[in-house]
Amino acid sequence: MLFLQQILTSLSFLSVTLALSPRWLLSSQQHWTDIWTATPFSAPVANLPSGYNDTGAAFFNTTVRQTVHVTLGAPQIRITLSNNFGNEALNVTHMTVAYPDIINGDGNATGINSGTGSPSIITSSIQTVTFSGNETISIPNGALAKTDPVNMPVKSQSQITISLYTSTGQGGTNITGHLSSFTTTWFANGDQTENSDISTLDNNNVKSGQQWYFISAIEGWVQPQQSSFAIIGDSITDGVGSTPNGNNRWTDQLFARMQSNGDDVAKNVAIANQAWNGNKVLFDGSGASAISRVERDILAQSGIAYAMVFDGVNDIGHTNDTVEAQQAKYDSLIQGYEQIITRIHTFGIPVFGATITPSNGPDYNVTLGKYSGRVREQYRQKINTWIRTSGKYDYVVDFDAAVRNTTAPYQINSTLGIGDYLHFNPSGYKLFAEAFDLSVFSRFQGGVSEYQ
Ligand SMILES: *[C@@H]1O[C@H](CO)[C@@H](O)[C@H](O)[C@H]1NC(C)=O
Ligand SMILES: *[C@@H]1O[C@H](CO)[C@@H](O)[C@H](O)[C@H]1NC(C)=O
Ligand SMILES: *[C@@H]1O[C@H](CO)[C@@H](O)[C@H](O)[C@H]1NC(C)=O
Ligand SMILES: *[C@@H]1O[C@H](CO)[C@@H](O)[C@H](O)[C@H]1NC(C)=O
Ligand SMILES: *[C@@H]1O[C@H](CO)[C@@H](O)[C@H](O)[C@H]1NC(C)=O
Ligand SMILES: *[C@@H]1O[C@H](CO)[C@@H](O)[C@H](O)[C@H]1NC(C)=O
Ligand SMILES: *[C@@H]1O[C@H](CO)[C@@H](O)[C@H](O)[C@H]1NC(C)=O
Ligand SMILES: *[C@@H]1O[C@H](CO)[C@@H](O)[C@H](O)[C@H]1NC(C)=O
Ligand SMILES: *[C@@H]1O[C@H](CO)[C@@H](O)[C@H](O)[C@H]1NC(C)=O
Ligand SMILES: *[C@@H]1O[C@H](CO)[C@@H](O)[C@H](O)[C@H]1NC(C)=O
Repeated sequence: MLFLQQILTSLSFLSVTLALSPRWLLSSQQHWTDIWTATPFSAPVANLPSGYNDTGAAFFNTTVRQTVHVTLGAPQIRITLSNNFGNEALNVTHMTVAYPDIINGDGNATGINSGTGSPSIITSSIQTVTFSGNETISIPNGALAKTDPVNMPVKSQSQITISLYTSTGQGGTNITGHLSSFTTTWFANGDQTENSDISTLDNNNVKSGQQWYFISAIEGWVQPQQSSFAIIGDSITDGVGSTPNGNNRWTDQLFARMQSNGDDVAKNVAIANQAWNGNKVLFDGSGASAISRVERDILAQSGIAYAMVFDGVNDIGHTNDTVEAQQAKYDSLIQGYEQIITRIHTFGIPVFGATITPSNGPDYNVTLGKYSGRVREQYRQKINTWIRTSGKYDYVVDFDAAVRNTTAPYQINSTLGIGDYLHFNPSGYKLFAEAFDLSVFSRFQGGVSEYQ
């Protein structure tokens, strides 16, 4: 034991050096890295499109066709399916990936959104995926499944289409989904995984909606210097106010800017948007709280070298507008943020923070802005002061300063909003992307000390 301690002491310089690197950076190998994610949520079956929402057999004999907009490109990919919130097993009978076609797509025909939300695929690109060699899999409730690697080169900021057919459907009252996709998903009866255009089928109960189901990550087989930046957030990061099929959430616009204006390090970082509409730091309710999903959505993800928390407006907004209530919330929020930072730092991963953006209507009118409150505003400012000055985050981006009304800073600048004094339009989200210092990726390339 003494001998071991001596070795450890003599190696202490080396071990400090090692501790400065995220685990996966210690490898000089190619590795899997998230190039797209959607955090899972519990979706009541009754709310699925009609004809697909029978309790005990959600999506019975159904194909679900979904497109996603990846960040970094990769020569090969893998897809993660989540059954995190299903009450019963999720049975996959046949699943394909393909490049989307622009025919009938809701997205623009050209440019980086080409094919987003499209019901059609380029048939020559269709590949059936396997799970540990089998085309079928029964994913137990609470579990997830990864496909085998798919030899499908994917370009940076391009779209891929996943078509999943389940012959049995899924039992139980709830399944796993992401209900604010801002991307059109298509549903049809029968195995349509190789069908070129779902929207042209007759008598197959074809439906579409803006939700994703089951898909929770796309991993790319990337180069050693490539990694991913995972962001836990709420509806502002999920994209409420962004253009359906437009891929102009602030994270999409940040990634585009990292590609066009970033240095060599920033250009090699993917983004894993792990935001959920209504998310709170401390309480479940609309999805799992941020503090409870750090492991699932950041630490258990592939290739994460940077993390961020931009969350808290719903915690303040759902707390009474009194000093007593807000002070108690303030105390637990600060402790909650510090807990999240500590858990992520344990893996040598830097954590970035962001100030909370304003959420009051004009003159604190609650009819115009549902979270309006003078005490809430006082505590939002207090929390933002802590975020800016505590030094707990490795880097802080001041979103509040970027989008507030300069003459009435308790409100957002209304030209950047969608009218609810809370969410932003694509020009507003552009200012979030522009506020971000792109040099932080090279600054924290080696990770951070775990001792924090
Ligand atoms: C189903 O989902 C709803 C909404 O997310 C949730 O409130 C409820 O607890 C879930 N029920 C089950 C049985 O999982
Ligand atoms: C399915 O959805 C339709 C339309 O929303 C609704 O009328 C119906 O009650 C739902 N069915 C079940 C079994 O929940
Ligand atoms: C996987 O496929 C093999 C060969 O077809 C089959 O024997 C095996 O039962 C399958 N496993 C599962 C879990 O379906
Ligand atoms: C899914 O497969 C499992 C394992 O074969 C089975 O127990 C379950 O009944 C299937 N689900 C449905 C809805 O048929
Ligand atoms: C599944 O749907 C297809 C297309 O509508 C239909 O032809 C087939 O009979 C259905 N299968 C079952 C078992 O209902
Ligand atoms: C399509 O392009 C036009 C013009 O650039 C733009 O106004 C519109 O928002 C885009 N739509 C989508 C869905 O991206
Ligand atoms: C919040 O205010 C409501 C209505 O005034 C009151 O019923 C409730 O007890 C308050 N909650 C807390 C935690 O102070
Ligand atoms: C708040 O806004 C609503 C909607 O514009 C308006 O009807 C109401 O008079 C406003 N309340 C106050 C106190 O100004
Ligand atoms: C609101 O934002 C617009 C666009 O960035 C800017 O021109 C204007 O000065 C801002 N107004 C206020 C009051 O902040
Ligand atoms: C800024 O706030 C002032 C005071 O409420 C208001 O008159 C003005 O319209 C607001 N401007 C913008 C761009 O939001």
